[in-house]
Amino acid sequence: MSTPAVEFQSVAKRYGDLWALKGIDLAIPRGSFYGLLGHNGAGKSTLINAMAGLVIPTRGRICVMGHDVQRDYRASRRALGVVPQELIDEPFFSVRELLELQSGYFGLHGRRQRAWLDELLERLSLTDKADVKTNQLSGGMKRRLLIALALVHHPEVLVLDEPTAGVDVALRRSLWAFARELHAGGMTIILTTHYLEEAESLCDRIAIIHRGELVVEADKAELLARSPWKHVEIIGRGEPSGALAGQVCERLAEGWRFRLPREAGLGTLLDQARACGIEIEDLRVIEPDLEQVFLSLTEEGA
Ligand SMILES: Nc1ncnc2c1ncn2[C@@H]1O[C@H](COP(=O)(O)OP(=O)(O)O)[C@@H](O)[C@H]1O
Ligand SMILES: [Mg+2]
Repeated sequence: MSTPAVEFQSVAKRYGDLWALKGIDLAIPRGSFYGLLGHNGAGKSTLINAMAGLVIPTRGRICVMGHDVQRDYRASRRALGVVPQELIDEPFFSVRELLELQSGYFGLHGRRQRAWLDELLERLSLTDKADVKTNQLSGGMKRRLLIALALVHHPEVLVLDEPTAGVDVALRRSLWAFARELHAGGMTIILTTHYLEEAESLCDRIAIIHRGELVVEADKAELLARSPWKHVEIIGRGEPSGALAGQVCERLAEGWRFRLPREAGLGTLLDQARACGIEIEDLRVIEPDLEQVFLSLTEEGA
């Protein structure tokens, strides 16, 4: 097996009395579109900042494309493009100047690099903002600039920390399309988010972090298959009563949504519905989604 794109070995981070990370072991495969999920405060940004050498772990070790972040910082940093969660507010430099500074940091100059910066500006719809000071950009433009900055040196691994928080629907769609395109070109992409439908549609593998601990790490399909529940919608007239009423989890305009244990057959539900005198017009089984799995794994006391 090839070296993982990123490998975390027993990574722990303490801030005062708080262990923000409690010993994370995780290997992110090359070429994956990887989702790092967790509630606010779970430790996602700490993990990502440790990957980028911005946070020094209290214990443990991280390698990016086989390079130890502590011992071989330059090589590991070069393999990585990080789009931070916090937006920039930079009064001195224009968009293009910042991209050129970042290029210089990686020792990249010349015609080919300038052509690449132009392409990034174009691809992220920033061409007409190239000479604008970055503190005059809108939030969405700043987000796109951060993505351009992360890609200046053609990293093999791109990390997006909550890239669509507070971003409007149109920009969100275009960012997803761009991320998919980069992934199709062979880039490993790591996405942290608390928008589960985002992870569900983009990622092929997912880790869930809860209070500094890794609670699960699996292929998306495998994770979805772990949902303890399924939902069944019955469209019809009548009124559920008795045991059936207890299984209603939502009233619909013309029926009900029921929550059943995943392994339960539909026979009992249908018998109960008929016993209540419900005329069934339609029946839909809803596939479990990531949100249900996530909630079942991160519920308080879980
Ligand atoms: N620089 C810091 N100093 C003290 N506590 C911090 C610092 N950075 C993060 N934390 C705490 O560590 C925990 C994890 O934070 P973070 O990694 O930002 O979570 P997430 O990105 O999943 O929302 C939180 O409780 C947060 O308050
Ligand atoms: Mg965060």
